[in-house]
Amino acid sequence: MFLHNIKQKLLVTVAVSASALGLVACEVGAYPLDIFPEMHYQQSYKTQEPPAVPTPSGSIPIQGREVVQTPEQLATAENPMVTNEDQASVTVAGSKLFATNCAMCHGNLADGESEVAFRFTDAGVRAPPSLTSGPAAAYSDGILFSILTHGQSNMPAFQRLLTTDERWMLVSYLRSIQK
Ligand code: HEC
Repeated sequence: MFLHNIKQKLLVTVAVSASALGLVACEVGAYPLDIFPEMHYQQSYKTQEPPAVPTPSGSIPIQGREVVQTPEQLATAENPMVTNEDQASVTVAGSKLFATNCAMCHGNLADGESEVAFRFTDAGVRAPPSLTSGPAAAYSDGILFSILTHGQSNMPAFQRLLTTDERWMLVSYLRSIQK
């Protein structure tokens, strides 16, 4: 019974002092030392607050989903990148995209020489071909774009991995190395 009382007293004391401290801590800056730092006062983004930092351009999509055209429609499509005045940066961007997305199959030099290509040959299927010569060099820009968009046989489709601009940059890059 005695112990029980002490326990009760302790509980009451703790509860009272905790609530007192809690009340005081509600005033931000009232204490030099925040005993119960509240998440409410953190530097987080709150509803209806203007953006804290300006968002980098392009980080919020505003143009909706891509309207995917059929290979027939794309066959005569023109590369919008050719009107870009800075052709050098288009080609550099394309070469970086190629190194990341295509080189493992088509080879670093796009000549069809890759470890993966040998595996295709071993398996008896058409290997990733050279893109600097052969059919790829004869295709129109639109057909190249269509193959990147829809894939072809064992060549994967890149429509959901690369943006429209990125695929056209790749077409520009392929054109530059085919010359
Ligand atoms: C998984 C391996 C793989 C990757 C990655 C890959 N390709 Fe291919 N690609 C192939 C194969 C295999 C073919 C041959 C398809 C066929 O049988 O017609 C091909 C065919 C092509 C063709 C048609 C060439 C022709 O002679 O018909 C083009 C153009 C092409 N790829 C471009 C690219 C580009 C650009 C990328 C990067 C965005 C890429 N590929 C990524 C495997 C790949």
